[in-house]
Amino acid sequence: LLSHCYCKKFIMGTSRLKSRGRISVTSTVTQHKNNKQESTLEAEITRRRNQACRSLLIQVYSSRSYNDLHNYCLQFGNVLSMHHYHINNQQNYILVEFKDTVSINQVMSSASFANGYITPVKSSVLWFRKGQSTTSQKNNQQKLPLFVENGCPLHTEAEKAKLLYNAKSISGQIIILYETMKLTDLEIRLRFHTAHHLEQYFSRLFQNIKVLPFGSSLNGFGRRRCDLDLVLVPDDTRKHDFMSRLVFHTKSMNNSDRNETKEFLGILANTMQHFIPGILNVRRILEARVPIIKFRYNYTFTECDLSATNMTAIYMTELLNFYGEMDWRVRPLVIAIRVWAKSQELTLDVPGQWITNFPLTLLVLFFLQQKKILPSLKTLKLYATSDDVRCAENGIDCTFLRDISKLPPDYKYKTNQDSLETLLYDFFEYYSTFDFQMYGICIREGVQIRKPSRSALHITNPLETTLNVCKNVSLYELNRIISKSHDAIYMLETTERFESNSWGIMTLLKMNNDNIVNLKKSNTTKEQTKNIEEYSEDNSYEISDKFEVSEVNIDETK
Ligand code: CTP
Ligand code: MG
Repeated sequence: LLSHCYCKKFIMGTSRLKSRGRISVTSTVTQHKNNKQESTLEAEITRRRNQACRSLLIQVYSSRSYNDLHNYCLQFGNVLSMHHYHINNQQNYILVEFKDTVSINQVMSSASFANGYITPVKSSVLWFRKGQSTTSQKNNQQKLPLFVENGCPLHTEAEKAKLLYNAKSISGQIIILYETMKLTDLEIRLRFHTAHHLEQYFSRLFQNIKVLPFGSSLNGFGRRRCDLDLVLVPDDTRKHDFMSRLVFHTKSMNNSDRNETKEFLGILANTMQHFIPGILNVRRILEARVPIIKFRYNYTFTECDLSATNMTAIYMTELLNFYGEMDWRVRPLVIAIRVWAKSQELTLDVPGQWITNFPLTLLVLFFLQQKKILPSLKTLKLYATSDDVRCAENGIDCTFLRDISKLPPDYKYKTNQDSLETLLYDFFEYYSTFDFQMYGICIREGVQIRKPSRSALHITNPLETTLNVCKNVSLYELNRIISKSHDAIYMLETTERFESNSWGIMTLLKMNNDNIVNLKKSNTTKEQTKNIEEYSEDNSYEISDKFEVSEVNIDETK
């Protein structure tokens, strides 16, 4: 439903704000203390968590409340950014990022509770009620610039079809698809803020815990509106004083005991259902291999899964993210395959005997290993440093290189320079002829292996090698993947640019031709398409910068 949302991004130049806060504050959290860690996902998680700690999600009447809210917030300290979004044109929210956590504490002590039957707990989601407008702190204040998300707001299917139709090549189409579907900065901020909101509640019960997003919200393979995977883990960064002679009496709990985890999650589910605002439709899936709580987070209209002490999933996210970082073609190709699989109903939103996005992603990564674009996990283990040593629950070794800057040069200058179009075609060709009966897929070794199980499809879990991540996939579903891959090859071979209202990847994705009637003449869209493609031709990995923000006058929101 977030597709019905219209996101606006307000970003204010920090320089203009510097002298505005009435209180002068000093930063309590130091970012990136350790420079050598900056290119790891761990460092990015620390940065995003820090950003979430300094942010408040504030429900407002409309985007017009922006000036009023901004002026009001300035009494608590410097504001770095404000992002507006709404759900179904009804609920309006502004995510306010303060410069310092001290400001958040000030807000917490000044905000009040609503009257009525409530469970009064303070958290970082608030309501900005109507009142006398707050005047700005200084009369000579410059008019604030309003930034809106420019290049890739949430596109409708018709808009996406326009962009794809006008692309110069299938490679261009894949880039466009990726750019229009990947998570935006605001979505990532909101995902970390949701984790922070839960953490605020749970930390009133337990010390030294943290809630982290993982999976496609974090590994760069996520699509807009994808589910949010969350995990509750011990926070090792907050070290106890080991020398203290006074030790708290606590209940002991065995994290690796599944029954204990199930009971623990059951208690959390009750707490969430009754005490945490914004959480709806709580479902307890406690019998699964990894017990989870499913719920809807109403402030962002996102479906969430919460698990506990599942560090392997975090390390898997780091691994997938690392592969995505290694070559600029990886993420666009994975997104294209994920979208193709969804359009062919090879993946569905409900669990069953079909493949899901995670193993599908492993199929793409394995294919890119065969193309010598990505190394095996064995190689990444070989290059691991002492900083990379990790051990998950049950003693699973999750050590592998995490800092991309430490890769030897020969991995940075690959000889394979195939275009995305070639890779897409070859992906279908590779798997339409793969001997699934005899062989399984092994990311760890980077080569096909003799199938160690009787499952129709065997993809070894890269970190827990005794597990097959596709145990659930039936032969029927595997044959559908093969057959749809054959179809895809045929479509790519026969497609002609501008031959009809649908060409190239559009035919694979079953894009509705009706949507693009009258679009051939659309100059604006052609211009946008050209911009995205030209940028991608520079072979730049970070395509997104181009589409960050543009400045418009604040009055345009009115
Ligand atoms: N995971 C895992 N082993 C599995 C399944 C999942 O380690 N057998 C981890 C992976 O890190 C995966 C994450 O859990 O990315 C979340 O799983 P899931 O939500 O199924 O996949 P996503 O990659 O998040 O894809 P989607 O966008 O469909 O949610
Ligand atoms: Mg997921």
